[in-house]
Amino acid sequence: MANRFFTKINYSASNEDSESEQQALQLTSNDTVLCISGSGARSLDLLVDTPKKIVSIDFNPAQNYLLELKIAAYRALSYKAFARFIGLQPCGKRVATYQQLTPFLSAQAQAFWGKQPKHIKNGVLYCGTWERLLKNMLRLASPRKKLIEQLMAAPSLEVQRSIWAKKWDNWVWRLYLKIISNQFLWKYVVREPGARLIPTGFNVYDYMKARLDHMGNNFDLKTNHYAHLMLRGKYSPPCVLPHHLRPENFDLIKKNIHKIEIVTASLINYLAETPYQFNAFSLSDFSSYAPPEAYQHIWQRVARVAAPQARFCERQFLVKRNPETHCPTLKRNAWLEKRLNEKDEAYIYTFCVGVF
Ligand SMILES: C[S@@+](CC[C@H](N)C(=O)[O-])C[C@H]1O[C@@H](n2cnc3c(N)ncnc32)[C@H](O)[C@@H]1O
Repeated sequence: MANRFFTKINYSASNEDSESEQQALQLTSNDTVLCISGSGARSLDLLVDTPKKIVSIDFNPAQNYLLELKIAAYRALSYKAFARFIGLQPCGKRVATYQQLTPFLSAQAQAFWGKQPKHIKNGVLYCGTWERLLKNMLRLASPRKKLIEQLMAAPSLEVQRSIWAKKWDNWVWRLYLKIISNQFLWKYVVREPGARLIPTGFNVYDYMKARLDHMGNNFDLKTNHYAHLMLRGKYSPPCVLPHHLRPENFDLIKKNIHKIEIVTASLINYLAETPYQFNAFSLSDFSSYAPPEAYQHIWQRVARVAAPQARFCERQFLVKRNPETHCPTLKRNAWLEKRLNEKDEAYIYTFCVGVF
């Protein structure tokens, strides 16, 4: 964990579609959930199902300071002020609003945000490394600006598919994908620590090409929030927002916000000492950062703190693993996995879901 990568905010918006976790976990008001924080989006989205408790864990303290700030904004603000403060809507008074939130923040979070005036001023929603990378890649795509707008304005999925096949998916796109799939770039330029764990036999280009073709052919891009991040660098109308950013869910989340407990620790350590037994696990993409032995130990420890019939949902990006090889008590649901692999509106992931 010495890597500097794990001391800054890498994910700030929502790089996922929590509807998949909702289907896999089927939360009820009796459930205690263990959820990886990342941007905090999934922990907040899952609150809409009003579980008893969500322990939101990340070994990167910066990700948890972001979640703390978002929670403080739910506590202190109205929806309108919240949307302006985090950066969903324009605002010239974020620094003043931040002062209203400090009583709700820990001393460590205040110290962290005190050193990030630019992020506060710009709104924190798009401050992550990943969100900024997507925005910078979009600059490279400026010759395709008109084509992007055509795709985002297609009146039907059929028209969108036809634009994708006839205009988008040409040699320029394939060359671009080849460049961004190059592991040298991720290891040495972006310095993404996960790049070292991608198995040598795994063809990143083929995988990304297939998943992005799936996006272009099956999802209405103008309403898809992940497509907005990729093709516009932000959420803009008529995007269907992630659950926790929708106005209709604001009051429910505000009322239940006390149910989130934030833990800054590695899964492997926390699972050895947690006082809780969990009914559900939302473990998004930790395989990207877990060497095989750590992955094995994490799942073995998950099994030890899982209540009978506990559900799990693991998203995997480029490092594909099989949790059942480490936990004989775990049963994967192949039917649901196939469905989520097809329907998840963040399309770059695949799923391992099931019960203990
Ligand atoms: C790839 S991100 C998932 C981000 C997600 N796509 C989002 O939109 O928020 C995975 C997160 O898990 C955290 N993480 C990875 N391995 C972990 C571990 N073993 N223990 C605790 N946190 C971990 C990382 O710091 C990161 O914030």
